[in-house]
Amino acid sequence: MHLQALLCVLAACYESVITLNATSNEQKGDAKDVTPLLLISFDGFRADYLEQYPLPNLQKFFSDGVLINQLINVFTTKTFPNHYSLATGLYAESHGILASRMYDSETRKNFTIANSSDPFWWNEATPIWLSVQNKNYKSAAAMWPGTDVMIQNRTPTYFLKYNPKVRFNERLDNLTKWLTEDSLVKFAVLYWEEPDFTGHIYGPDNTTMMAKALKEVDDHVGFLMDHLNQTGLLGKINVIITSDHGMVQCSQDRLIKLDDCVDRNSYVLVDTTPVAAIIPINDSSDLYKNLSNCHAHMKVYMKAAIPDRLHYRNNKRIQPIILIADEGWTIVQHGDLPRLGDHGYDNSLSSMHPFLAAQGPDFRKGYRMKSINSVDLYPLMCNLLGIPEMPNNGSYNNVRCVLLREKCSDLAAVIGIVIGAFIVLTTITLLFRLLKNREHSSSRPFARLELEEDDDEPLLE
Ligand SMILES: *[C@@H]1O[C@H](CO)[C@@H](O)[C@H](O)[C@H]1NC(C)=O
Ligand SMILES: *[C@@H]1O[C@H](CO)[C@@H](O)[C@H](O)[C@H]1NC(C)=O
Ligand SMILES: *[C@@H]1O[C@H](CO)[C@@H](O)[C@H](O)[C@H]1NC(C)=O
Ligand SMILES: *[C@@H]1O[C@H](CO)[C@@H](O)[C@H](O)[C@H]1NC(C)=O
Ligand SMILES: *[C@@H]1O[C@H](CO)[C@@H](O)[C@H](O)[C@H]1NC(C)=O
Ligand SMILES: *[C@@H]1O[C@H](CO)[C@@H](O)[C@H](O)[C@H]1NC(C)=O
Ligand SMILES: *[C@@H]1O[C@H](CO)[C@@H](O)[C@H](O)[C@H]1NC(C)=O
Ligand SMILES: *[C@@H]1O[C@H](CO)[C@@H](O)[C@H](O)[C@H]1NC(C)=O
Ligand SMILES: *[C@@H]1O[C@H](CO)[C@@H](O)[C@H](O)[C@H]1NC(C)=O
Ligand SMILES: [Zn+2]
Repeated sequence: MHLQALLCVLAACYESVITLNATSNEQKGDAKDVTPLLLISFDGFRADYLEQYPLPNLQKFFSDGVLINQLINVFTTKTFPNHYSLATGLYAESHGILASRMYDSETRKNFTIANSSDPFWWNEATPIWLSVQNKNYKSAAAMWPGTDVMIQNRTPTYFLKYNPKVRFNERLDNLTKWLTEDSLVKFAVLYWEEPDFTGHIYGPDNTTMMAKALKEVDDHVGFLMDHLNQTGLLGKINVIITSDHGMVQCSQDRLIKLDDCVDRNSYVLVDTTPVAAIIPINDSSDLYKNLSNCHAHMKVYMKAAIPDRLHYRNNKRIQPIILIADEGWTIVQHGDLPRLGDHGYDNSLSSMHPFLAAQGPDFRKGYRMKSINSVDLYPLMCNLLGIPEMPNNGSYNNVRCVLLREKCSDLAAVIGIVIGAFIVLTTITLLFRLLKNREHSSSRPFARLELEEDDDEPLLE
């Protein structure tokens, strides 16, 4: 009987801890109270670079804030799909930017990175900068993919047209000017091409070249913090630093040549590596059979059989046959290795994951999490900005504990509290029994226990 009662009390304690999400959808009351948010992406920043290289400015950034070691990103682990997922909270199949190269069979349009500004490709989703504007705030963007496109007939309020020659400092300068001169700007995004660029050319295993590229990135973080300080934004703005995907070493020894297996005239190759998109001409069964037996390090899927966990099937721009190379392998039709480093592979590979760090008035200090899904960032940002979420695939609950205003305790602490409470209550019960036996009293043994229950509550904050 006593034990049962104790377990009930403990169950109630535990439940009150895990249901502390009551405040999750609470939005900040006053528009003027909303702290502006700056979201920065360093393209191709693999999560474990943080452990492999000295990055003093970045270290300082997250030791004063939050670090999430791995962001489980979306398939395909390419730049455009993932930046749009960060901005929409949607998997690629649901936002429509599926790869770096796409073909739409109805309109016969082609999408490439160099020719990506046709709104047609982007209109399936509403990026957060438009939701910000719907709330009568303004947004500002420096080269983040999609921010110079007229999505649903609108761009961010302020934006720079994509131009890879514009230096980091100039991108940041223009953003902070908009942020300081117009107090209605509540959301700003900044994109930078490194360390992706260096990772592709030299491969991530070239530690000499990666160290150089990463030092530059870290210097940019240093410049960022100095610049925020000088413009008076530091401490008055929430800053998130993250990335779209990781990078893996490729090799001439890990080439898969399609010409060795299939007749080139039997298909159209829409996208090549590491995820090839194939449209059969005429009969697909012979083609599929040949491709399936082509290489031990290449998975071949008819569209309907693409695994659920990739969330990469329900879109008309996903082609009838998809080939996925194993980690570090490269698919070509013939010829040599196109680049020494690549990404795009299965998003369950940790080499494909970036990190996320954050700092600012709304974030905890010195807080760490192991991982979240990259689609969880969107509901977090909506919550920070007090704007309603569009339908999305993320979960605020997964990530809410990075915020100061959320009451959270980590699992270890919860278990510790539960065990501690168990020991205390057991001891008290035993003492009671002892007293009861001594005094032969018939008073209610649980009167104290009910009190104890209340006394325990503050422990759980
Ligand atoms: C958490 O928050 C959501 C949304 O406000 C709510 O529906 C739910 O009941 C809360 N509790 C749990 C245990 O999820
Ligand atoms: C870019 O793509 C559009 C279709 O989305 C096409 O009409 C246009 O010709 C392309 N431009 C170039 C330079 O290829
Ligand atoms: C689009 O790409 C397909 C496949 O690569 C090609 O056959 C076609 O000519 C391209 N269409 C245009 C308009 O460029
Ligand atoms: C950034 O702002 C400066 C000063 O207003 C301007 O001269 C420059 O052209 C801007 N940069 C870009 C890429 O538009
Ligand atoms: C890294 O790249 C540089 C420049 O191509 C080259 O000289 C060096 O040998 C490479 N190092 C490694 C470890 O691959
Ligand atoms: C901001 O700048 C002031 C004055 O230049 C300096 O004293 C302070 O240490 C700086 N703060 C940070 C966090 O860099
Ligand atoms: C499949 O492989 C066989 C044998 O190599 C070849 O004769 C045939 O043309 C291939 N089919 C296609 C569609 O490539
Ligand atoms: C596809 O079918 C058409 C019509 O049956 C035929 O003319 C053509 O040669 C076929 N192409 C291939 C690559 O098999
Ligand atoms: C992702 O979210 C969209 C929009 O709510 C929804 O249509 C889609 O079914 C979701 N995908 C999954 C796998 O839940
Ligand atoms: Zn890249």
